Amino acid sequence: MKNIVILTGSGISAESGLKTFRSGDGLWLNHKIEDVCTVEAFERNPALVHSFYNELRPIMMKALPNAAHQAITTLQQKLPKLNINIVTQNVDLLHEKAKSKNIYHIHGRIDECVCMNCGHIIKTFADVESDEVCPQCQVQGMLKPNIVFFGEMPQHMSEVDYMLSHCDLFIAIGTSGIVYPAAGFVRQAKFHGAKTYLFNLDPCNNSSLFDEEILGKASQTFPKFARQLINEINRQS
Ligand code: OAD
Repeated sequence: MKNIVILTGSGISAESGLKTFRSGDGLWLNHKIEDVCTVEAFERNPALVHSFYNELRPIMMKALPNAAHQAITTLQQKLPKLNINIVTQNVDLLHEKAKSKNIYHIHGRIDECVCMNCGHIIKTFADVESDEVCPQCQVQGMLKPNIVFFGEMPQHMSEVDYMLSHCDLFIAIGTSGIVYPAAGFVRQAKFHGAKTYLFNLDPCNNSSLFDEEILGKASQTFPKFARQLINEINRQS
């Protein structure tokens, strides 16, 4: 075993107090996903989209990692000879706060804006308004939250593609398997010979593609698995 890819979704952050996207009534902080997460919504009403992320940013910045995030870090620390990459759909920074390494945010980050004119990325801790000027190119009104909206390309896809075609073990945690391309990663990893595990509260949309499905709260199920994996690999080496 050399390469592990861990795909995370909003379910891993649920026990840190962050709402999952499709929980309950289908609203995210009282907004329909299509009103705040699409290119069309941003073109139609950038002020509304900015105000949504301005509301979400401090909530995400205050959240703390839970036992599932910490267990990923422990895996990386205790198995230093393995390449363990984290591919996250989450825009929160809980993997960073848990001090994990090799984190790829394919749907962007809450603490960044990007200028649609020059591509400059700006660290964003305070509110951003729709008429702000880009500090790099000085053009006004072109800053967009660095969140991948529906209708945009996910980020880091060439690195992810390489990882999936070289991985021995693929683990998905807290994701419903609805949104592509992430929902297709398990198929790609399996095609290249990886063993595939799912840790989710409920069966997900593509459950049948996983060799093992472990249902329950990730903060309980995943640390247990991580301890077993560390013991097993250390016994073999
Ligand atoms: P979803 O809300 O679609 O799915 C969250 C999954 O987490 C569900 O299948 C739950 O069963 C599971 N879950 C909830 N609590 C859990 C817990 N404590 N432990 C383990 N699992 C738990 O969220 P995502 O799959 O992340 O895209 O959604 C994927 C993408 O759709 C998001 O990245 C976002 C969204 O639209 C963008 O923002 C571009």
